[in-house]
Order: sequence, then C-alpha cells, then structure tokens
Amino acid sequence: MRRVVTLYRSSVGKKILMAVTGFMWLGFLLGHMVGNLKAFQGAPMFDEYAHHLRVLGEPILPRTGFLWAFRAVMSTAFVAHLLLAWQTSRQSRAARQSGYRKREDLNFTFASRWMRWGGVFILIFVVFHVLHMTTGQLHPDFVEGGAYHNLVTGLGSPVVAALYALAMLVVALHLHHGVWSMFQTLGANHPKYATLRRPLSTIVAIAIFLGFVSIPVAVLAGVVS
Ligand code: HEM
Repeated sequence: MRRVVTLYRSSVGKKILMAVTGFMWLGFLLGHMVGNLKAFQGAPMFDEYAHHLRVLGEPILPRTGFLWAFRAVMSTAFVAHLLLAWQTSRQSRAARQSGYRKREDLNFTFASRWMRWGGVFILIFVVFHVLHMTTGQLHPDFVEGGAYHNLVTGLGSPVVAALYALAMLVVALHLHHGVWSMFQTLGANHPKYATLRRPLSTIVAIAIFLGFVSIPVAVLAGVVS
C-alpha cells in the first residue's frame, strides 16, 4: 500500500497508475464485448451467461459475491483513473503555461483536451448505461433476470440505439489515444516496438467499436430480436 502511495505522489507514478487502471478497463471492455456477442446465439445462451456472472465463485463465495468484489475493484479503478487524469492534466497545464508554446504543445493540448471531454462523456454514458441495462430505472420495460429481453427492448428505440453507437465511437477514440499512451508509459517505447504502438492501438479501437456497435445495429435490423 505504501508503495502505491509513493507511486501516486510522483508524476511518472501517476502515469503508470493511469496506464494500469486503463488497462483494467480495457480488459473489462474486451470481456464485456465478447459476452455481448453471445446475444447472436439467442436468448437462452445470453441469459445463461448473465446468470453465470451472478453465481461465479459459488459455493466458496456467497451468491453475487464475486460480482460485487469485481464491481468494487472496477469502480475504484474508474474513479482513480478519473482523478489521476484530472491531476496530471492540471500539472501539465501549469508546466506549459510557464514554458514556450511549441507546435507539439498544440497537438498535445488537442489530444489531452479530447481525452478529458471524451472521458467525461464516457462517465455520463456508464452511469446512464448501468441505470438502463443493470438496475433498470431508465429502462422502458425492465425485467429482473431477463438480460436478453432487457437488451433487445432497451435498444429497440432508434434514438437509444444511436446514443449507444455514438458512445461506442467516443469509447473507441478514447482507446485509440489511451492504448497508444499506455504502451508508451509501460515501456513499449523501445525503438523495436515503437512502430507497433500506433497500428496496435488502431486495431484495438476498431475491434472494440465494431464488436460493441454490432449489437444495437443487429437489434435495429431485427437480427437480434
Ligand atoms: C453497445 C454497447 C453495449 C451494450 C449492448 C452493453 C450491454 C450491457 C448489458 C446487457 C448489461 C447488463 C448485463 C447483465 O445484467 O448481466 C451491461 C452491463 C454493464 N455494462 Fe455494458 N454494454 C455496452 C457497452 C458498454 C461500455 C462501453 C461500457 C464501459 C465503458 C459498459 C459498462 C457496463 C457496466 C459497468 C455494466 C454493469 C455490470 C454490472 O455491474 O453488473 N458497457 N452492459
């Protein structure tokens, strides 16, 4: 714990913690995307998958015990990622104001501004999304335990489906820069790997976008119904 605090206090440490928390969410997104694709296999498969998430770890852990532990870890990582982003952007803005304004500064400002506003949008989306698909307060016809039904009826409105598609675009663009930056922080800056960073982050962003957006598109097209 003391090591994490020391790491958190240094600016390099902040970047490392941002990369690690970002990586955790990237892992979640890949798993979530693969899970969502089970919708193409029909209601029984998708509902069984959703049910398994709730009973994972049973009987060693109580029912939904693993899910709640996972939620706690991922929420902490999300909040830490946001706070670190806010702190590092304040620090680098202060540093830039006291230095020369160069061309790279403008590019850098654009990327960091985009990451900040994209991040705020993703935060709002995640809050909406959980109230929509998981707890049901913002769902027009929520059925407890009916994950497939909730997915299909929740994305049945073109406006909501378009909102999801837009959110996936923002998530993909956030990942495009975030994954690139994460590789740099975690040491893949070596000339041997440097040329791979851009194509790799592009592939991740496109895969995440297509994998997720296929669901609202399939619901609207009646392929998932
Ligand atoms: C088209 C895109 C997406 C679809 C169709 C979708 C679908 C779903 C569904 C159906 C659930 C409820 C699962 C269940 O009740 O077992 C869910 C939960 C969730 N989704 Fe998504 N999702 C999408 C994108 C995202 C993205 C981009 C994020 C994060 C940035 C995200 C984060 C979450 C979270 C945090 C939960 C709650 C998990 C829990 O605590 O049980 N989702 N999603």
